[in-house]
Amino acid sequence: MVTMKIHQIFFKNTQRNFCYLITFDDGAIYCIDPFGADEVIKTLENRQITAILNTHDHCDHYSGNEKLVSIYNCPVLAHSQAIVPHKNRNLLDQEIVYEGLSDGSVWRVKSLFTPGHTMSHLCLLLEKNDSAFALFTGDCFFNAGVGNCHNGGNPEVLYETIRTIFEPFPDDLFIYPGHEYLKRNLEFTQHYEPQNLAALDFYNRINHLNLDETFFVNTMKVEREINTFLRLTSFELLKNLKLENSKEKNVFLTLRELRNRW
Ligand SMILES: [Fe+2]
Repeated sequence: MVTMKIHQIFFKNTQRNFCYLITFDDGAIYCIDPFGADEVIKTLENRQITAILNTHDHCDHYSGNEKLVSIYNCPVLAHSQAIVPHKNRNLLDQEIVYEGLSDGSVWRVKSLFTPGHTMSHLCLLLEKNDSAFALFTGDCFFNAGVGNCHNGGNPEVLYETIRTIFEPFPDDLFIYPGHEYLKRNLEFTQHYEPQNLAALDFYNRINHLNLDETFFVNTMKVEREINTFLRLTSFELLKNLKLENSKEKNVFLTLRELRNRW
């Protein structure tokens, strides 16, 4: 049976980028953050891209645009302030990019304004029958971590995005990040929360795997257990940071700063 499918494409570049293809029964195919075109073309197997969606305007998320547009002549969608090659449509917060039926369910792709990593960053939310199903997080949020704010971002704004947009998501939401940084991020969590058994268990599971070939799609439930940026009230974390009496925002900013130097 054909149904909605998510194809995760991994690139062995130094930044370890992920690109995604979301395919639907009606033939619609959305390509999120093509770092390279050739791998996307191979995965497409002669099918047509409906649109390219760029989460933000860092080149490792759009460097495949040029070749894909030249072949498929597809539109390119991103935030109005994002400077992305071949962009010809601006996306607003909460804008519905796609709606259709696949396998008896109503699927929607919706853009969410998620500033912080850059000030024009979008995440793409995939909804199934009005419920959040999967989130393509670009460089806003990673497995066991969050994005940096070095190139046009702001950590205080990123904190607000994580607090107001990510924290309310349901436990069963699947997370599809823009990079594969799982092991390094788990090491960071473990450094500041050595008693975090979920993080320790996950690390032990992946430690001997080839992470160029094996990938994990975490739910928000798992992220709440292993992602120290979502655990700002952890007693152990606060004790190790010597921030027992600090506000959550200060804990987040301290962690972001420590992760920058990690
Ligand atoms: Fe980025």
